[in-house]
Amino acid sequence: MRLFLAINLSDEMKEALLAAQDALFDRGIRGNYTAEENMHLTLAFIGEYPDAEAVLDALSAVSFTPFPIGLEGMGSFGDLWWAGIGESPALASLVRRIRRALSEGGIPFDRKRFSPHITLIRKVSGKMPGIRIRPVSMTVGAVSLMRSDRGRNGMIYTELGAIKSQTAGERQDGQENETAHRP
Ligand code: 2AM
Repeated sequence: MRLFLAINLSDEMKEALLAAQDALFDRGIRGNYTAEENMHLTLAFIGEYPDAEAVLDALSAVSFTPFPIGLEGMGSFGDLWWAGIGESPALASLVRRIRRALSEGGIPFDRKRFSPHITLIRKVSGKMPGIRIRPVSMTVGAVSLMRSDRGRNGMIYTELGAIKSQTAGERQDGQENETAHRP
């Protein structure tokens, strides 16, 4: 099966992305628009791999506290147009640790430099107009292991499992969260 790790987006963020797609469509841009339910932020692309449990096991040691991400601008990779994510050291650190855990677990993945983006349109033709994407933020509380299947009407993404962020008062080393001791 074809696997990847991704952050699934809040409804509010998907609404802002849909509004951006509408604005592009209204400007005459044509192509394969990503369906709302397929919008996500990929952190690591594993590709064909038979063992989802092994991936979740490898990731079980990766811990993180919830952190924000926000939409910022648009860009393209050839004929693929995307919405960007603003600079986030917490996101970069999480991706580094996820990729290290995959390596240590012997799980293959695409080692291309991480360039956080949410695909809006594939196979697009035309020149990118300047449109504004509402700068919505969301809190990242989980990273999902996704399976990708080719459906009759496009890709179908299914969540197979997730690693969750630590909640306040919980720490991997068994200590209480520092903030719990603040006066
Ligand atoms: P994309 O949207 O830029 O194509 C499922 O295919 C997800 O994995 C998509 O978000 C896709 O990004 C991403 N991905 C990253 N590297 C990939 C690769 N080498 N092949 C296919 N998809 C890849």
